[in-house]
This record gives sequence, C-alpha cells and structure tokens, in this order.
Amino acid sequence: MRRHSWVVLSCLLLVLLINGVIGITGAEVPVYKDASAPIDLRVEDLLSRMTLAEKIGQMTQAERGAITPQEVRRYFIGSVLSGGGSAPSPNTAENWAQMYDGFQKAAMSTRLGIPILYGTDAVHGHNNLWGATIFPHNIGLGATRDPELLERIGRITALETKATGANWTFSPCVAVARDVRWGRTYESFGETPELQRLLVGSYIKGLQGPNAEMGGEYLVATAKHFLGDGGATWGTGGAGYKIDRGNVAVSEEELRAIHLPGYLEAIKAGVGTIMVAFNSYQGMKMHEHKYLITDVLKNELGFDGFVITDWEGIREIPAPNYYQKVVRAVNAGIDMFMEPNGWRDFITNLEKAVRNGDVSEERIDDAVRRILRVKFKAGLFDAPYANRDLLAQKLIGCEAHRAVAREAVRKSLVLLKNENNLLPLAKESRIYIAGSNADDLGNQCGGWTITWQGKSGPITIGTTIREGIEAALKEPGRLVSNLDEADVAVVVVGEKPYAEGVGDNGKLTLGAPDLMVLNQVKAAGVPVVVIIVSGRPLMITHLLKDWDALVAAWLPGTEGQGVADVLFGDYNFTGKLPVTWPKDLDRYPLNYGDADYDPLFSYGYGLAMDLKK
Ligand code: GLC
Repeated sequence: MRRHSWVVLSCLLLVLLINGVIGITGAEVPVYKDASAPIDLRVEDLLSRMTLAEKIGQMTQAERGAITPQEVRRYFIGSVLSGGGSAPSPNTAENWAQMYDGFQKAAMSTRLGIPILYGTDAVHGHNNLWGATIFPHNIGLGATRDPELLERIGRITALETKATGANWTFSPCVAVARDVRWGRTYESFGETPELQRLLVGSYIKGLQGPNAEMGGEYLVATAKHFLGDGGATWGTGGAGYKIDRGNVAVSEEELRAIHLPGYLEAIKAGVGTIMVAFNSYQGMKMHEHKYLITDVLKNELGFDGFVITDWEGIREIPAPNYYQKVVRAVNAGIDMFMEPNGWRDFITNLEKAVRNGDVSEERIDDAVRRILRVKFKAGLFDAPYANRDLLAQKLIGCEAHRAVAREAVRKSLVLLKNENNLLPLAKESRIYIAGSNADDLGNQCGGWTITWQGKSGPITIGTTIREGIEAALKEPGRLVSNLDEADVAVVVVGEKPYAEGVGDNGKLTLGAPDLMVLNQVKAAGVPVVVIIVSGRPLMITHLLKDWDALVAAWLPGTEGQGVADVLFGDYNFTGKLPVTWPKDLDRYPLNYGDADYDPLFSYGYGLAMDLKK
C-alpha cells in the first residue's frame, strides 16, 4: 500500500478512536458550555449537574473585602460586590480589572466553572473609581426630562464600569421621592411616576444594551429598591434613621399607582435584577414580603430575572434568630443574598433550612435558575474575564464622556427666579463668587462618590463651578475678591455630601457660613445670583426676596463647567423641577396633585432666559 494511503488510514483510525473514547467516557462538551445552545437548555443542563452546596453558593453574595478568591472557589460563591466606596488600592482601573479577574479565575476553577457576577453601585457613573466620569445624580437627571440623554449616560457608565471588569451595577434607583426630607431623595428621578415612565427604560437600555444584551460592553442593571422606598412616613425610619428604611403606609392602590410604574418600565426594558428595599410596607419588612415579591413581581408582572436583597437586608427582619430570617427571606422569593460579611452564616443556615424542609428544593432551584439565566444572558460563561481592550482604549474619564456629563449638567439646571433678566451674565463682568459649594468638587458630586457618604474637597478629577466660571470670563471680565469691585455676586450654597439615612433631615435649612455670605452680599447691595447645590429643595422662602436670580443645580458631578455654560447664555435653561419646592415643612409632605397644593415652586416649574438681549 502506498505511503499516502497509510496516512489516510491512520487519521481515520485516530478519529474513530477519539470518538470511541468520547463515546465511552462521555467526555463530550456539556450543553451548558455550548454557546450555540438555547439559554434555557444551558440553564437546565447546568442546574441538573449542581449539588445543593453549589446551588446555595450561587445564591450568596460576599463583599470583596470579606472573602478571598480561594473562598469564592471553595464555597462556589455566585457573586462578589464592592460596597459603597470599596475599591482596590491603588484605586485604578487596572487594579480593578486585576482584582475582578482574580475572583473570576477562582470561580472558573470550580468543578462546574460557574462565573461570578461582580456588582458595584455605579449610580452616577462608575463612582467608586477615582478618575471616572461622574454625572449629575438622578434628581438632576429628572430635571432634564431627556430620555435620549439618559440612554447615553447609561451607555457611558456601562463602558467605564465594564472596562474595570465589574459586570453588574446596582442602578438605577427608581424610587419615587414623596418626602424630600429623605436622605435618598437625590437618588430618585423625582416625585411622580411620570418621570419613571419617561426615564427608567432609556437608562436601563443604556446600561444593559438596547436588547438587554447585558454582555460585552454592557452591564447587568438593577432596578431598586423594591417596593415603595420613596414613600415612607417621616418618623418611622429604621436602623436609627428618621425616615430611611421606614414604613410605607399608603394603600395598595396608591402603592401600585405611584411606586410600581418604574418597575414596569424596568421589566419592559429587560432589567436583569431587582433589589429589595429596606423599608416596610404596611408594617411588614419588604425583605420578607412574599405577596409583593413572589405573587406580584414574579408571577403577576412576570419578572424573569433575579431578586437580590439589600446590604444585610434580611438581618432587619423581626424574626427570633438568623435562621428564621433566612427562611422567611428565601421563602418570600428572594434569590440572591447580599450578606457581605456574614456570607458563611448564610450558607450554613440555608443548607440547614433545606435539610429541615423549611425551604424547599423547588424554591432553591427557582432562585438558581434565575441567577444562571442572567449569567448566561450576560455572556459570562463565554467571556468571563475583564475585557482588556476596553481598558486599553482609555475611555475612563475621557473628554468625550465628560462632554456628555457637561451637557447633562446644563440640562439639569432649573432657573427659579431671574429678576430684571440679570441672567445671562456678560462674560466681561467682574464677578464676586463665594459660598460653601462654589469651589468644592466633593460637595458638587454628593454622596456615592469615591466613598459611600462622599466628602468635601478635591476627591477626584473634575471641574468646580468656580473653575468653570473663571474659565468662561473674557477680558476685562474677571473674578474679584471684594464686593465693592463686583458687578455681580454669584453665591453657591447648599448641602455637604451624605448618603442614605445619614441624609435624613427635618429642617433643610442653609448652613451658617452660607447665610453669612448672603448677608454680606445683601449689605453690599450687589446684584446676586444664588445657585443651590443640594440633593433636594432647601427652605429658602424667607431669603428669596433678597436674591435677583436663583438656580437649582442639584448635585452636578465632576463637570461643574456646565453651570457656566448656561449662566453666560451659551445655552438656555431647559430644566424643570422634578420635585415640589415647598414653602416650608409645616404642612408636609406636599406633592403635585395634592389638594391645597401651595408650594414655593411647583413640580414642573422652570424659567428660561431672554437670550435676545
Ligand atoms: C446600600 C444601599 C443600596 C446599595 C447597597 C450596596 O445599603 O441601600 O442602594 O446598592 O447597599 O452598596
């Protein structure tokens, strides 16, 4: 036989041998690893292969500082998170990607190789990352009424977050803020479901992709906090707060009419996850509310992603012990448990609950099925590691992204008063600028920026309002340090950073330093533009008469020059109030549509400048 024939025969024999071996050992590629197989088939195949320990591991989320990659592997952990301000040191994109890959390699080395989801609060840009583009907080985005802009913001947030490996954001918050004394008012788009209907779907499309891809350059998003977080009653706060984590007492009809529409939009947009609220509804903690989580969210509304707790949220369930808290939360229909530090206890107690029959295997399978479905949809099995090409593109904090954030600042500004058309200012003016928030990047970013609570000072890369104004001036225009040299005063007042219940505030008054500056300007008789940088309306009724112009700037983020763009008339004001601006807090809460609605400025109010002058 010629040599050629021997070669062909040998190859044929080799192929038959390999197939034979595979046939005997069953070492074919399992369906769940076949990227071409339908997702539901991959889910069922993988689920059928999992042990109880592997399933419970998938339901567990631990904080990055409380778990090692080895433990992620040993306990089959389904997710790791960065809590507010939790970042590797140094806090660089490269270090984030290395950290993420370290956890992911461990997860992929488990028997079944199930990748983790890595979650972080990218609530106004990738705000845990130094140098990232920081957008206006949601209340300012509500003032823009611009869904197309929000989709671009979501897209940029996804790019800058995904470049660091993190593939899941705990945003958007779709709270409907009905009481601005709540410290999380700024995380809401505003006080009506109208704003949720207008903005939530677009934002999620930007984050997850127009077809809820959730993979590649997109993220898995989270609609939060389910349900009714913005509707609690003042004085019922939990965890020592005044209203945050409090009790929502409204009727189910009002709950559905006011607080549910954001979730309907999120589900329509294909949101991957929904986070449960700390608050109670009619006296029952949401973290054990089976009717709203299972009957309404999952069954009635058909939500097919997965439900996650808030930070140690199950520990606030009023049960006699941790075991009962776990049982009640799992049986309520929650699928993944943010137990950042106590994740071992969670695993131990849930395994015990299944053995005892207090939690059924069916409930475990429902939770794991949902988690796996999101992971397959997000392409994690097929591309588990940080995309270094994204990192190499140097997108984080790039000029193009900052330009969009600057546009968002412009569109978020609301002009509330403009006596004698003081605005727009001439660029040739001599301007006296003062106030606690005139030149403070940390204050204009607010909470959830670099640290959980945020803080004053040069906390990251950006431009302060003062820097933006100074850059816009033209000779002989300049900043002056004495009022008697000034044509006009710009006084930027407001709040210092805070997050969650730390920001609960029953007075909402200006601080003494700002009041002192305002008095000095009034005494000097200089025309004054007041800009309020805050997470919500402040009580200024008695001061307003002394001000020629008033601008609500909310929490603009890093691109403070967007304020100057409008102050000098390069752009006009287009923002509209996303919340009612009350005269005082005596007869409060006061929301659009209430009887005897008599605010200082109405929801939806906003002036424009006469740019012809
Ligand atoms: C916080 C917040 C929630 C956030 C989570 C993780 O307590 O309530 O909005 O996503 O913990 O940081």
